[in-house]
Amino acid sequence: MTSPAKLPVFDRFIQDLRAAWAELPDTESRMKRGTVLLEALVQDPSMREASKSWPSTEGRQNLLFYEDPDYNFAVNGVVRVPGRKGSIHDHAHAWTAYGVLDGTESLQRFQRVDDGSKEGYAKLELISVTEGKAGKVDLVPPFDIHAEQGGPTRSAAVILRSERVAGRTTQGSYDVDKQTIRQIEGPTQVPYEVCG
Ligand SMILES: [Fe+2]
Repeated sequence: MTSPAKLPVFDRFIQDLRAAWAELPDTESRMKRGTVLLEALVQDPSMREASKSWPSTEGRQNLLFYEDPDYNFAVNGVVRVPGRKGSIHDHAHAWTAYGVLDGTESLQRFQRVDDGSKEGYAKLELISVTEGKAGKVDLVPPFDIHAEQGGPTRSAAVILRSERVAGRTTQGSYDVDKQTIRQIEGPTQVPYEVCG
């Protein structure tokens, strides 16, 4: 039995990211270039077709497509069930580019309006909601507070992270109604190969 072939467009994406990391001096400029590359990837029809068979990531999972052995950036996949309610969180010090590949999702952004001096307390204000449709990428800077909400149908997204947070450091998790913040572990990483 032969295993399915790796998807060429995804391999190229990884090579282009490695070239960007080699060429550019800092995380912000690398992630801005990475955002442009991710925009092309999430507009690619072969990538979209491949995502139709990806398993659901319900239960706080991420598909782990790739983690770079030299530069540490990581590429994840997320597959949401229709109407999935996302929790409010940050990604600690990591940069995150969030690209919708199939279906629709919305990205809520919050800002913190308390001074952070009271342990476990955080008062948030919703500042924007961006409708993410297939082919759209959002770049989320370190410690930005946000929530990804599922749309009316199944949706698939590809995430480029400047480094893997899960298993390495905790991240903030917020409850806007109770006005709380706590530190939690990142999503479970499920190794998965992007094949055509
Ligand atoms: Fe996020």
